[in-house]
Amino acid sequence: MANVKLIKNGTVVTASDTYTADVLIEGETIKAIGIGLEAPEAETIDASGLYVFPGGIDPHTHLDMPFGGTVTADDFETGTIAAAFGGTTTIIDFCLTDKGKPLANSLQKWHAKSADKAAIDYSFHLMIGEINDEVLAELPQIVAEEGITSFKVFMAYKNVFQADDGTLYRTMLTAKELGAMVMVHAENGDVIDFLVAKALAEGHTEPIYHALTRPSALEGEATGRAAKLAGLTGARLYVVHVTCAEAVKAIAEAREQGFDVWGETCPQYLMLDQSYLGLPGFEGAKYVWSPPLREESHQSVLWNALRTGQLQTIGSDQCSFNYAGQKELGLGDFSKIPNGGPTIEDRFSILFSEGAAKGRITLNQFVDIVSTRNAKLFGLFPRKGTIAVGSDADIVLFDPAAERTISEATHHMNVDYSAFEGLKITGVPVSVLSRGEFVIRDKAFVGSAGAGRFIKREPYTKPDSASPSGKEAVQL
Ligand code: URP
Ligand code: ZN
Ligand code: ZN
Repeated sequence: MANVKLIKNGTVVTASDTYTADVLIEGETIKAIGIGLEAPEAETIDASGLYVFPGGIDPHTHLDMPFGGTVTADDFETGTIAAAFGGTTTIIDFCLTDKGKPLANSLQKWHAKSADKAAIDYSFHLMIGEINDEVLAELPQIVAEEGITSFKVFMAYKNVFQADDGTLYRTMLTAKELGAMVMVHAENGDVIDFLVAKALAEGHTEPIYHALTRPSALEGEATGRAAKLAGLTGARLYVVHVTCAEAVKAIAEAREQGFDVWGETCPQYLMLDQSYLGLPGFEGAKYVWSPPLREESHQSVLWNALRTGQLQTIGSDQCSFNYAGQKELGLGDFSKIPNGGPTIEDRFSILFSEGAAKGRITLNQFVDIVSTRNAKLFGLFPRKGTIAVGSDADIVLFDPAAERTISEATHHMNVDYSAFEGLKITGVPVSVLSRGEFVIRDKAFVGSAGAGRFIKREPYTKPDSASPSGKEAVQL
């Protein structure tokens, strides 16, 4: 029989359990889990001393994306290979849309960018920039047939991606109807636009002004506004890249009121602070993200929120631009620095090393935050996000004792710097399997571009005749 693998003597870690077991893979799926499994026809893989984790699920990437007058340095090939090296086996990328054009065209464009290039499985979120009859007519089919069950609305990037509150509200109404999740980039784009223009008029052009013109209060305000609209409409809301105490508070308050609101943070906000934007020369441009890096005091708030469940996930927000020639577009005008950084390879390792290994979160919380919760929220569970019989054999064999140092010299992203240069990491993904096939074996890439598959995702409510509303929410 083709592709039978037996992973022996590893420590299986899921979002709920940690135990020693063998894992039998047949074809693309996990066939059995147990002690002392035998399969004479299987290739045996010794996982003694290793954790057997479900593959990481990165719910927030921007690959091959035009932005700020340039295009991200990593495409679906380099980005997904780097993701695999870092222990991630599924990504959900953001499909940008153009006002006045069919959403289907944008989806076709994103399929064309990814189909022959992705080395691991992938899906898309769909950006909603406007709501009109054409958009409303397209969305039901996009959810039901195309398996795209999350919409993204930008509350910032005025005159580029930003949508107004009416659009956000109507997107929520439609999404609720279709069982799709609404995701927001929560910053007050109108006020930021004013502050940026004022800073430039006053002659402030350096990267640090990127942070100074986007204060955390404006992220908290937008997060609270989106959360209130979610409460009004009953929609499920997911706030991407939460950076600060004000936004954590707004999400916690919404959840206390019973609103269906969820929050994601990213490794850069857990590890780096605003002072990086003030590095000498133009070095600070490497650290320009939106929302911006914050004062260091916000980091413990974010860790605490992950530990207590006020924030539930970690996304990379991978959006890489080379320092040379791309970040440099903002020399003399911080508002022209392309926003974003390289993180797809480091998300899993940083959460393990700085989170689980340092005791900020438990090992099972690590799995939940890096994989399982994302699978559940984004309609991939139980196909992905866990080690269970019948699930896709997306597996990371992870050495928790190994150490390495993050560096541009050794990373696999197609970009000329690392945001975490010199950071010492405990724990290394040794081998990574995607649907039963090795993508990374003994720390070397053995997969192929194009082997990744587009995965149709489930809506979060399903028709159910027994429920009074006629719909049954998927259990989280
Ligand atoms: O700076 C960032 N975050 N760049 C990527 C685009 C976005 O806002 O997520
Ligand atoms: Zn954003
Ligand atoms: Zn993003």
